[in-house]
Parts: sequence; C-alpha cells; structure tokens
Amino acid sequence: MSWLSWLLIVRPSSAPSLLLVGMLGSQLGLRVGLQVVQTVMCSQWGTPSSQGLSQDGDVVIGGLFSLNHQHSALNHDYTTLPHYKPCTGFALSPLKYIYAMVFAVEEINLNTALLPGVRLGYRIFDSCARHPWATQGALSMIAGESTSCNLTAHGSISDVYAEEMRVRRVPLSSSQPVPLVIGGASSQTGKILSKILEPISISYLATCPCLSDRRKYPNFFRTIPSDIYQARAMAQLAIHFHWTWIGAVVANNDYGHLAIQVFQEEVKGKGVCVAFIESINRETIVRDARQAALTIQASRAKVILIFCWYTDVEQLFLELARRNITDRQYLASEAWSTSNDLLQNVALSKVASGVVGVAVHSSAISGFESFLRGLHPSHRPHDELLRQFWEQEFGCSPGVTQSDNQSNISTSPPRLHHKGYLPPCIGTESLEGLQHVFTDTSQLRITYNVYLAVYAAAHALHRLLSCPDRDSPSKNNASTCSSPHNVSPLELLKHLNNVNFTTPQGERFYFQGADIPAKYDLVNWQKTPEGSLKLVLLGQVDGFDLHLNQSAIQWSTGSNQVPISVCTKSCPPGTRKARRKGEPVCCFDCIPCGDGEFSNKTGSLHCEQCPLEFWSNDKRTACIPRELDFLSFNETLGITLTTVAVCGAVVTTAVFVVFLCYSHTPMVRANNSELSFLLLVSLKLCFLCSLVFIGRPSVWSCRFQQAAFGISFVLCVSCLQVKTIVVLAAFRSARPGAEALIRWFGPSQQRGSVCLLTCVQIIICATWLSHSPPEPQRDLGFKGSKVTLECAMTSVVGFALVLGYIGLLACICLILAFLARKLPDNFNEAKLITFSMLIFCAVWVAFVPAYVSSPGKYTVAVEIFAILASSYGLLFCIFAPKCFIILLRPERNTKKHLMAK
Ligand SMILES: *[C@@H]1O[C@H](CO)[C@@H](O)[C@H](O)[C@H]1NC(C)=O
Ligand SMILES: *[C@@H]1O[C@H](CO)[C@@H](O)[C@H](O)[C@H]1NC(C)=O
Ligand SMILES: *[C@@H]1O[C@H](CO)[C@@H](O)[C@H](O)[C@H]1NC(C)=O
Ligand SMILES: *[C@@H]1O[C@H](CO)[C@@H](O)[C@H](O)[C@H]1NC(C)=O
Repeated sequence: MSWLSWLLIVRPSSAPSLLLVGMLGSQLGLRVGLQVVQTVMCSQWGTPSSQGLSQDGDVVIGGLFSLNHQHSALNHDYTTLPHYKPCTGFALSPLKYIYAMVFAVEEINLNTALLPGVRLGYRIFDSCARHPWATQGALSMIAGESTSCNLTAHGSISDVYAEEMRVRRVPLSSSQPVPLVIGGASSQTGKILSKILEPISISYLATCPCLSDRRKYPNFFRTIPSDIYQARAMAQLAIHFHWTWIGAVVANNDYGHLAIQVFQEEVKGKGVCVAFIESINRETIVRDARQAALTIQASRAKVILIFCWYTDVEQLFLELARRNITDRQYLASEAWSTSNDLLQNVALSKVASGVVGVAVHSSAISGFESFLRGLHPSHRPHDELLRQFWEQEFGCSPGVTQSDNQSNISTSPPRLHHKGYLPPCIGTESLEGLQHVFTDTSQLRITYNVYLAVYAAAHALHRLLSCPDRDSPSKNNASTCSSPHNVSPLELLKHLNNVNFTTPQGERFYFQGADIPAKYDLVNWQKTPEGSLKLVLLGQVDGFDLHLNQSAIQWSTGSNQVPISVCTKSCPPGTRKARRKGEPVCCFDCIPCGDGEFSNKTGSLHCEQCPLEFWSNDKRTACIPRELDFLSFNETLGITLTTVAVCGAVVTTAVFVVFLCYSHTPMVRANNSELSFLLLVSLKLCFLCSLVFIGRPSVWSCRFQQAAFGISFVLCVSCLQVKTIVVLAAFRSARPGAEALIRWFGPSQQRGSVCLLTCVQIIICATWLSHSPPEPQRDLGFKGSKVTLECAMTSVVGFALVLGYIGLLACICLILAFLARKLPDNFNEAKLITFSMLIFCAVWVAFVPAYVSSPGKYTVAVEIFAILASSYGLLFCIFAPKCFIILLRPERNTKKHLMAK
C-alpha cells in the first residue's frame, strides 16, 4: 500500500502511523489511519484552511485548489509555536478555476445527454498550496469525512482563532466519498496524491514529465501537457528560426533542469547549440539574477531561453534593465509567458518587449463569462468563497446585508473579521459590467484545463454508469454495473483511460496514458502605443507541428526581421565548415574548397567534387566545363615547333634547289640523283607532316597525321636503304657475278623497291585507319581546369606496326650502311648514312619512353620533336657535306676527285 510508505517516509518516527501496520488493506485500516493522519497534521502543521465549496449529488467529485498561499513558511527558530499561521493571499486565478469547476458541473447537470438521471456534485477544498493540507483534504474527501480537527483538544490554540475556525468551517456534513479528485496544483502534490490515493486524480496544473510514468502513477491524469512538449516546442522554434547559439536561464530544480535537458536532446544533430546554462535559485535570486545578467551580457547569444517561475524572471529582467541590456530576444516557458505581473510592469517593458513564448492552450468556454458575472452572494448564500471575494473586492460584508434585511432592527455587533469590521453591503454590488481580472475570460488557459478535467471525469462516469441493464435484475450486473452511490475507483479508472469525446467547444479530447495530446499557444509580447505590453496570439503548437504566423511577430528589436543568434556566421558558398577543436559544433571556421571542388550552398559541411567534364570556378561556387587544351599554333611551344618545321622544309627546299642547279655536277650525279631528289621530297614531307600534329585535333587530322607521318618516314628510310644497297652493289661489282646484280638492280628496280617498301606501309596504315582509327578525345583522367583534347589511339597495335615497320627498315638500313661504311671511296655515302641512321634510331628509341610518360598535349609535342629531330638528323648528315662541297669547294666537285682513291 503506497500511502503507508508515504506515511512512513513523512513521519518515520510517529508512533501512531506505525500502529497501522496490522490493519492495512481493510476499510477499517483506512478509516483509523485517516484519523491518525489528521491528528498528526493538526498538531504539526496547524489547522488547514477549511475554506471550500460543496454541493451534494448522486456522484460527488472532489476538487483541490490552492486558493490561498501561506506566504511565510514555518519558522524554525523554536521561539514561537509554529502552528496556525493563517492562510492568506486570497488569489483570484484559483478562484476562477474553482468557479470553472462549478460551472462545468452545472453545465453537465443541465445536459440531458451526459449522465442522464445522475446528479453530479462537487466538494472543493483549498489546499493553501501546501502538500500536507492537500493530502488531508484529499483523504477526507475520499473517506467521506468532514475535515475537522479536534480543535479543542489542543490547548495551544488561541481562543480567537478557534472561534474563527468554528465560524468559518464549511459544513461538509455529507459523508459520501468521492471517487475522483480534480487537483494537485503542483507536480509534487500530484505525485503525493497519486501515491496515496486509490481513487483517481486529474490535475490541471502538474506538468512534471515524471508523472507520465504509468507504472508509478497509474491513477494520475492531467489536462495540461507534460513539460517535455514545451521544451520540444521551443526546440522547434529555435530550429525554425535558425537560432544556432542559444543561452538558457533555468530554475535550479527539476522543472528547469528537465526542460533544458529535453531541449538539448531535441536540438541534438540539428545544428543548434546551447551557449550557456545559468541556474537560478529562488533563495539566492538577487545574486543569481546578477550572475545570469552578466553572462547574458557577455555572451554572443542573442536568443535566451528562460525556464523559470515568473517571480524569478521579474528579478532577472529588473537586473537586465538596470544594465541596459535590451537587445536580447527571450523565449518564454509557459510558467511566465502569460504572467500579467510581468506584462503590466512598466519597468520591464524595455527588456521584455518582443518575448516569444509557449503558453498553455486556451479555448473559450461559452457562457462562462456570463456565469461569472452573474455570481452574487444573494444567490449563493452558503458560498464562503464568494463572500470572501465580495469582502475583498467591494469592502463590504454581504452576509450582514441579508441579516439586516431579515431583521431590520439588529442589535448584534457586526461580524468579527480578521481585517476588521466591514460595513454591510448595499446589495447593488455586482460583477455585471465590471472590468476585472476575475471576469476576464479572454485568456482561460488553466481555467479551461479545469473545465476539461471535469468533463473528462463526467464522460468516464457516464461510460461507467450507462449500463444498459442497470435497472434490470440480471445475473451479473453486480460485476459490470456500478450504481452512482457506489462508484468503484478501479472501474472508473478503466473508463477514464478510454475516454474519448468532443468538448462543447468542438475539440476532440482523449488521454494518452496520463497525458493529453500536447497543444500549446504561441504568444508574443507586443508594445502597445501607450508603451505597455500586450499578449498577442501567434499560433499554435500541435504535437510536433508548428502553426505560426511569422509576419505577426514583433521581435525584441522592434522590427519584423527575425533576430540572428549564431556563434559563427554560416559559411558562404565556396567554403565549407571546419570544426574548431574543443568548441561546440555551432562555432566553426570556413575553409575554402580545393581545386575541382565546389559548394553552392551557404553553410555546407562538405565541398562537392565537380563531375569529370567540369572544374570549379575561381570562387569555388559552381562547376564550369573544363577548357579544351591542345597544342595550338597560338602558344609558344606550338609556334616554336612550327617555326622549326617550316625552317626544316625551307632548308630541304633550298638543298633541293641547289641539287637541281648543280644536277650536272659529278657530286650530284654520282650519288644517284633520282633517289637523292626523292629523299629530299620525302624529308620535306616529314617536316611538313609535323605541322598536321599542331592545332585542334579533328576526326580527319587524327587519321591524316599518323598516315602522313608513317608514309613519309618509310619513304625516307626506304630511299636511304636503296641508296645503301646501290652503294654496296657498286663496290661489290668487281667480284664475279656482281655484274648481273648491278645490271639487274637498275634505276627502275630501285624505284620499284622504294615503291614496294612504301606500299607496305600504305597498306598497314590503310588497314589500321579503316578499322580503328585514332579519334579526337578528351583525356579526363588528368585533373585540372583544362582537359586535353588528343587523338586517342583506339588500336595500339596499328600504331605499333607503323612504328615497328619504320624501325625495321631503319635497322636494316643501319646494318647495310654499317657493312658498306669501310668501302673505299673518296666520298663514301655509306658512312653518312650510318651516322644519320644512328641518330635516327637514337631519337626514336628515346621517343618511346618520352611519349608514354608525357602528360596531355606534350605527347604530341614529343612526337613532333622526334619527327623534327630525326628529319634534321637525316637532312644534315646526308646533305650538309655534299652541299658544302658543291657550294664552297667546287674544285673538289670533279669526277677525278670523286673517283680518286
Ligand atoms: C541604453 O542603450 C541605448 C541603446 O543601446 C542607449 O541609447 C541609451 O543611452 C542607454 N541608456 C543608458 C542609461 O545607458
Ligand atoms: C476518438 O474517437 C474518434 C472518433 O470517434 C476517432 O477518430 C479517434 O481515433 C479516437 N481516438 C482515440 C485515441 O481513440
Ligand atoms: C498574420 O499576421 C498579420 C499581421 O498581424 C495579419 O495581417 C495576417 O492576416 C495574419 N495571417 C494569418 C494567416 O493569420
Ligand atoms: C547546387 O549544386 C547541386 C548539384 O550540382 C544542384 O543540384 C543544385 O541545384 C545547386 N543549387 C544551387 C542553389 O545552385
């Protein structure tokens, strides 16, 4: 039994509670226990305020409200008796809650569809905001006892107070137990009630998330959302407005710590960071408020979350106003977002204007305002609360009026009242047309929660009592049906768990465990032209959905611009975030993207790679197509190579002209003039074919360049080869049988050989180029802002055959020339050919590795270089000595000189 454990915890040493152990579990135990509790309470905590309201009915529901507050807590100085501090501070909001309950019960009793034939009653009790008194009130309601301490048993009570207590005791004569209590104005009370009561409690104000635990508090319900949801709503606001650097000031208790914990969990991974958390203790509020103000001033966070009770917020705002810190945006929890005390405090308006907050959902209750305005003591003669309200508001005593009216000549002195004697009321005092907090129903909020709680209870009772065969004496009606006079709390609990109805306001209502679906209002504190602040509804939070009219918000800056609260401004496009070591994720550096990477969004985490054909622009904000790169006539390398090639061609032409002019001289004639001319032409072709490699590669230039290169070189080398053979043949003619050879290998055969050798190359080229010709292609493998356009070898075999054939001819030529180099001759051409072929072979052997390893367009340059180098080699080695003799040593250009040994 949980209430036993509570008793033991609260009063572990009190002997009377220990007496209960043997009797628990029975009704008898409960009754006896109650008396003991009452006795203990009366002597320890003083007499509870016995203010309340009650109305009898078939089913009576209980209500616990903190109408009064005992401001000064117990004095523990042991110089005075701690007992009987009167409850003071008659508050109007709880009074409105009480009348909302009364109104709801009356409305339900008038409703023929809900609880037909069952009259609902209520028993309302003031707990004076103290758990023990709430407990006692609840226990007495459940037990059906009237709350009375045996006052006279205690000699310590002053007679005046005893007198007052006796006069003001509410006549709770009915001893009908209540199955359900609406109340627990704080989470603590809610916990205690749920732990000790078997019957059900429905709270309208307890927001502690702990109370959602169904295993611990199975009989607890509430019509106010758990604090988890408001912290979540705030997190959504922060995410929605991109506030990534937020400060927090929280009450140093479960409320504050839990709220900020939920907030942090909710924003985790969403890029929102908490810049600081300042805790505030109620006991050291002045010091804590100063500390919090200093932190707020020092921080770069412009948005501050505050989870505190409104009196603490007041202190904090006063401190901020004193320091002229007015440019911060505050996010309010429901504990202070609708506080009239703060809204109406002009000293705070500079700091507090623009506050955006989460508030308990408010709905209008139709008829409630006229009900409140219609309240009058003359209609409710037994209503102690209304009488006290009348005394406080109108400064007159309504009860006296009545007695005056009844007996005109009254000699009895006016009633004793702790404020003194009050004049009797005239009777015309009325709430009709009075502008008063009590009659203002524009912001019902908690009041509406009370109203909902009554309706939830009524619907549960309706389900429980609307047993189809309640009246018929069927066999098992005892187990399935309850009578209004014997409502089983367990049965009621079952029905309350499944209650699902539409309120008179048209809203769907059901419980999810202990809770109702979270619904909050979003409010904004806006400056009025008069300089004060007013509460403006911005929208709603419905579960996880934020419905918000953003244009209606007036921010603390006074403008419509959403305040910016960040640790570091988000990174511009072209850069990426880089975390700073040891700092929250919201503080970071911006690092420019690398080559070939880009970021086109603000605040990107990564730079993206550009696609293959693209490269990042200078600002790294986008990808642009890569520039085509090839060896062109416009660049230095191209111009140089072109110049060298053209020079080569010109020199070859010049040699050709010289040979033509001196074609009759022995020097030209001796050396097979026809082959020499052919060689010069082929060399010229070699020089010119290098030009085909320069410029933008196209389908045709790719094919033509390789063919031209291959054929002109084969032509060149085969000329040399035939020349060598001729030399060899001529000098071997002295031997027998050589005659025939030299006769057979005449000029036409020589021409034919050249043609034949060249034709082989032509066939190779034709086959290669017709099957898989080189294609102009972009070389994407190489990274950079440029992409090389090159003639890609689709068939390496073809290229290798062309090169290989040239190489083969060159080698044969080299070998033949090597054999012929020692032959006796004054002008032995074979020597020159050997030398030129050595250069030729050296160049092309060096070419292969250079070609393979050159990047991009430089492969082409390497090939051109090889062509030019080998061509120049041939040109100079073979023709330079001849031209030297022809032009500069004409005396040696004689047959005699040539033939001389
Ligand atoms: C407070 O700050 C405002 C603007 O920041 C300035 O105009 C005003 O003079 C300050 N007041 C005091 C008392 O420092
Ligand atoms: C409540 O009733 C309505 C309509 O009858 C239904 O749509 C809704 O799902 C019910 N809700 C729950 C939680 O049972
Ligand atoms: C939003 O607020 C503005 C300014 O108060 C108002 O003009 C507008 O009608 C509101 N929009 C909606 C959808 O409520
Ligand atoms: C950013 O780049 C992505 C991918 O290249 C593209 O889909 C997107 O439209 C770009 N966004 C902007 C704002 O340019």
